[in-house]
Amino acid sequence: MISRKELEGKVALVTGASSGIGKAICNRLAEEGINLGMAARRKSVLDSLSDKLEKKHGNRCLPLPTDVTKDEEVNDMVKKTVDKFGKLDILVNNAGVIRYGDIEDFSTEDYKAMMSTNCDGMFYSTRASLPHLRKTEGNLIFIGSFDANHPRSFNPIYSATKWWTKAFAHSIESIVGKEGVAVTLINPSEVRTDIEDEEGMPYREKFDPEEVLDPEELAEVVLFTIKQENSTTISEINIFRRDKMSEFF
Ligand SMILES: NC(=O)c1ccc[n+]([C@@H]2O[C@H](COP(=O)([O-])OP(=O)(O)OC[C@H]3O[C@@H](n4cnc5c(N)ncnc54)[C@H](OP(=O)(O)O)[C@@H]3O)[C@@H](O)[C@H]2O)c1
Repeated sequence: MISRKELEGKVALVTGASSGIGKAICNRLAEEGINLGMAARRKSVLDSLSDKLEKKHGNRCLPLPTDVTKDEEVNDMVKKTVDKFGKLDILVNNAGVIRYGDIEDFSTEDYKAMMSTNCDGMFYSTRASLPHLRKTEGNLIFIGSFDANHPRSFNPIYSATKWWTKAFAHSIESIVGKEGVAVTLINPSEVRTDIEDEEGMPYREKFDPEEVLDPEELAEVVLFTIKQENSTTISEINIFRRDKMSEFF
């Protein structure tokens, strides 16, 4: 494992940094002295988070108001990160949304919201970041889902976006692994964030602490992947609440 000293001064770009898993990842990486490009749509949230992290941890943070469904904004997000910090060591492809509904009545708008954020957004961010990650032999991390490996009768489109993420992540791994880039797919089951259930209740209210995963546990997993020595890739991690598989078997 590489040391805290070696992590200090690295540069990470995190999408979906304004909330939940992305916010926790930013906080944990800042604690290690990693400089951050923080991307999401809500500028005021990013501004205040980035201020807080800089004051608390002394790292440097760049708020990057970005809609990941727009390729030009994503290109700009990567360019601004590299312009400010001079390099990119880590991309965390995390921004994602979920929508619910019966498949026969599922709206095209909700379908497109999931496909454009969960798939297109990850493609645009990866495409723009890879030239920089090749230079640094860095880390490319995807937040997938439990659903990336299991069909879901109640949410086929969301599930399909996460199967897409899995196929994309491992295919990219097969291209850039030999060039020294480590590609990791992390598949959590339920995490206590702002993501909502079918009734619109955020998971952080629906579940008690320790009933399901906390975003900070995901942040630890991300840190574990980037602390590996240069020749090693943590290719895929499934992190579930302990009774998750009991729902199925
Ligand atoms: N929570 C879970 O149970 C769970 C389980 C498995 C996988 N995941 C995955 O984990 C990832 C993070 O979700 P979360 O649970 O942390 O949810 P969350 O708290 O709702 O956070 C979602 C983040 O994505 C950002 N985002 C959404 N659409 C965006 C867009 N078009 N452009 C840029 N940013 C956008 C949001 O910021 P803005 O609104 O400011 O843009 C927010 O920062 C997602 O990929 C999700 O599918 C979550």
